[in-house]
Amino acid sequence: MSASPRVAIYPGSFDPLTNGHVDIISRGARLFDRIVVAILLNPEKSPLFTPTERVEIAREVFADAPNVEVETFHGLLVDYAVQRQAAVIVRGLRAVSDFEFEMQMALMNRHLSPEIETVFMMPGEAYTYLSSRLVKEVFALGGSVAGLVPPSVERRLLARRAQAADSFANRR
Ligand code: PNS
Repeated sequence: MSASPRVAIYPGSFDPLTNGHVDIISRGARLFDRIVVAILLNPEKSPLFTPTERVEIAREVFADAPNVEVETFHGLLVDYAVQRQAAVIVRGLRAVSDFEFEMQMALMNRHLSPEIETVFMMPGEAYTYLSSRLVKEVFALGGSVAGLVPPSVERRLLARRAQAADSFANRR
């Protein structure tokens, strides 16, 4: 009898995907039979990248990783995990400051669906200070995000900056 495949969900906003996320996904892909990167469709937020762009980016980055899937989800994470037959939710823990919120989410998810386990993974130490929020801020203020995000994210950001500069020049 063969064991059923171990499917893990790695949920998040991924706006944008950072090298810290890539590190966690790569570690998860070694640990589980399949890891599903699940991008939350959150109508309240005004995102930097549309959900479609975020899916495209993650699929590009993991094009050579057959056990990494990328999808969007909405509603309760545990409902989505059940739908995908995933027994595990993966979350990254960068520092103690992440712990309180992550524990609340993990215990709420356990309350809602006791059969699903949350597994925390630590990224490489080079990524412990990295967050999507800071990447957005650095980019918005004209800083370089090289080395912080995958090249495809950096390319898209630079294209936006060039486009914004062009339309500014054309208005003058
Ligand atoms: O990248 P983020 O913004 O830290 O990810 C947060 C995310 C998407 C994991 C979280 O907001 C989530 O699971 N949302 C789905 C709604 C839900 O299930 N809420 C109740 C469980 S805490």
